[in-house]
Amino acid sequence: MRKTLLTTIAFTGAAALTLSGCSGNGNADASGDTGTDGGGAAETITVGFAQTGAESGWRSANTESMQNAFSEENGFELIFNAADNDPAAQISAVRNFINQDVDAIVIAPVVEDGWDDVLEEAAEAEIPVILEDRTVSASEDLYAAWVGLDFHEEGVMAGEWAAEEFGDTPTNMVVLEGTTGSAPANERAAGFDEAIEGSAIETIDSQTGDFTRDGGKSVMEGYISNYGVEDIDLVYAHNDDMGLGAIEAIEAAGATPGEDIKIVTIDAVKDGMQALVDGKINFIVECNPMLGELAAELVTDVLAGEEVEKTVYVEDQTFTQEQAAEVIDSRPY
Ligand code: AHR
Repeated sequence: MRKTLLTTIAFTGAAALTLSGCSGNGNADASGDTGTDGGGAAETITVGFAQTGAESGWRSANTESMQNAFSEENGFELIFNAADNDPAAQISAVRNFINQDVDAIVIAPVVEDGWDDVLEEAAEAEIPVILEDRTVSASEDLYAAWVGLDFHEEGVMAGEWAAEEFGDTPTNMVVLEGTTGSAPANERAAGFDEAIEGSAIETIDSQTGDFTRDGGKSVMEGYISNYGVEDIDLVYAHNDDMGLGAIEAIEAAGATPGEDIKIVTIDAVKDGMQALVDGKINFIVECNPMLGELAAELVTDVLAGEEVEKTVYVEDQTFTQEQAAEVIDSRPY
């Protein structure tokens, strides 16, 4: 498998405009192995984008990045669908894109499993599929490329901070998991567990908050009512929004988030970074949502019949309170 790590995004919209004849399916196959239909003039590229939903601040930033990159100005017509985190609704949105004979389909898959049939249908219709953000368990022959983040490594970085912070001190941890069956929930859990192996951190409970603020809040309320604030030392939230919900629950119980109960999250969106600066979250691992330009570049290249990297990773960083205070005003999301 070819892998690329990108730390900067260098795509310019002009690249999209150099494509020849793409309105209507350009007859590249699903893995992008053949070229476009070879007309002379630049035409609009029609792209169906199947987004997960609007569950988090990260998702809003990702949607904005995609809409900016797949703009009319850059030579695209974007047909946007948000599936409200419903895997069946997302698959049916992709089927609609196939029926509309779009030039390419981009998917941020809600969950990893269940994609084989619809990806095969896209392949039969010779519509290339590019995945962004989340991965699928289907064969990689069924899609042209994927661009996103290393969720496993994000979990490792969060776990390394926790292991370092708590050392040999016996620590009761509760986990706020992302959407069940999603790649980030699966991989962030595995990476974190690997990193804390051998430490004195014990997972006393782990439930899904579905990547939403309300979900994080209500699951945290349940933990507090079951264990009491005094018996919870650490919250690991698979994203900022659930961590922000946990903060509300902890404060409502009369305790101080970041002090009585430490919190580590993943994303580094504006609200999460502000909570880190305010000392309510203790450490954040970034998950960069600005994937639009790279996804647009992949679509353009695949339709032009160019060979592309199958797997494109974007680099993440981590933030302490001091580091967050330094950068918070300059970050775009
Ligand atoms: O797939 C990326 C994850 O999805 C983000 O961490 C989370 O905030 C979002 O909902």
